[in-house]
Amino acid sequence: MTATARFWRARRALLILAAALALAVAGLMGGSATPSRAATQEPCDIYAAADTPCVAAHSTTRALYAAYDGPLYQVERASDDTTTDIYPVSAGGVADSATQDSFCAQTYCTITEIFDQSGHGNNLTDAPAGGADSGPDVLANAAAAPVTVDGAKVYGVYISLGMGYRDDDTTDISTGNASEGEYAVLDGTHYDNECCFDYGNAETNNDDDGDGTMEAINFGDETTWGYGTGNGPWIMADMENGLFSGENAGYNANDPTTDYRFTTAMLEGGQNQWALLGGNAQSGSLATDYSGVRPSGYTTMDKQGAIILGIGGDNSDNSAGTFYEGVMTSGYPTAATEAAVQANIVAAGYSAYTLPGNPFTVGSEISLNATTPCCTGDYLVGDTSGDDVGIEAVTSGSSTALKEDATWIVEPGLANSSCVSFESANGSGDYIRHYDFELYLEPNADTTQFDLDATFCPRAGNSGSDFSLMSYNYSYDYIRHYDYVGYVASDGGSNAWDAASLWDEDSTWIAASPWS
Ligand code: AHR
Ligand code: AHR
Repeated sequence: MTATARFWRARRALLILAAALALAVAGLMGGSATPSRAATQEPCDIYAAADTPCVAAHSTTRALYAAYDGPLYQVERASDDTTTDIYPVSAGGVADSATQDSFCAQTYCTITEIFDQSGHGNNLTDAPAGGADSGPDVLANAAAAPVTVDGAKVYGVYISLGMGYRDDDTTDISTGNASEGEYAVLDGTHYDNECCFDYGNAETNNDDDGDGTMEAINFGDETTWGYGTGNGPWIMADMENGLFSGENAGYNANDPTTDYRFTTAMLEGGQNQWALLGGNAQSGSLATDYSGVRPSGYTTMDKQGAIILGIGGDNSDNSAGTFYEGVMTSGYPTAATEAAVQANIVAAGYSAYTLPGNPFTVGSEISLNATTPCCTGDYLVGDTSGDDVGIEAVTSGSSTALKEDATWIVEPGLANSSCVSFESANGSGDYIRHYDFELYLEPNADTTQFDLDATFCPRAGNSGSDFSLMSYNYSYDYIRHYDYVGYVASDGGSNAWDAASLWDEDSTWIAASPWS
């Protein structure tokens, strides 16, 4: 254990003692012993006071204890491989995203570590190889998921294909058949039907060790093992070799599609008893989607106590989702405790982030002007005679056809309407999509893959001005021109067009008036 970890453990012990004393004093003074949201209580204070303390507490958006002022997460920038820790702006407060923004300016940052606020040192880092996939997994783009909490911009953990975090060597996480609770606040609109966007308890050897060796919250519309009403996504429990929406494998009528922009998902795991709860992280209370006995074959659990985020127990890492905060407790939380935690989450004030000056208004037409000094007269053009997308000079004297090829109708993102898709204004009905990381102009194929490849999320410009367009499914990649050809590219990745030189300018675009 490092000196920092020892410090936080000692500090945490004092805080838990203080929380218990405060509750005792409230009881003596006639106050209610039921945990409730107060300015001085955050989720883990509530769990501690109810004797089901957090043994892991992860968030890139806010402190989960009223007194926590330690590091929330660490970012590493591509330009020089150095790291910095992001703290709350004050004890118990929201993450200091301004530090991330200035540290990562004109380059690209990944989230390298999500610190455990509980003092147990259960930090999440890059997931290693496992039975289902090689590793280490890809790290999340630190700027991919901006949101606001209490009005302040913060960032979530945006997981897409190949990404994942894990801790195989934990302290005090429940093992065997011991009880625990878990919750996560997620983006209910960012999900898929791949295995497995999970948060919670998993195997310590990164392999599928059989039924009951894991117990994690799962979120998505994967229907291989379990599902509920509607089209999904559903909050389910990954108990290994099964995502469960209720007592039995397959369909369970009480587990509803839950796709709030901010979704609270809870899982409680006891002795032949478990529960799923879910609801809107911005308002109201939670519904109990299941509470009852374990599925057949899982009656006595054999949890191993590792922690995963964004992957399955065996490092199945094909899934997508966005995580904002989550905890694991020791002991089975009471209904009153879970209700108080949900009230705290609602009071925290999660909200969608509005990109200042966002010009990508659905229904409008724009042209995308390159910003690199070589090419300031060039625009992103989709060629009608082929399917290539690249940059080309366009002037008032250009042909009508070229002007149309350089004009884009902004459509709701085919894969997620929080982002956008670009339809050519040349009348072809074609969209920009990437394939093998190169951009093409193609008719809408109406497939899940096309939707994903044709969806781009407007973000602040990578060069520090204007705008960049992040690929929805390869979230470390942005629309870039390289040698006049259009790609999705990361800063310093493995393809020629990922070259670090000029990446920030090549991937930054002025949203100009439409040419046609
Ligand atoms: O239980 C579903 C998945 O099955 C687990 O997450 C994974 O370990 C296995 O492939
Ligand atoms: O462009 C990268 C990937 O290449 C796309 O997602 C996929 O369609 C193709 O395999």
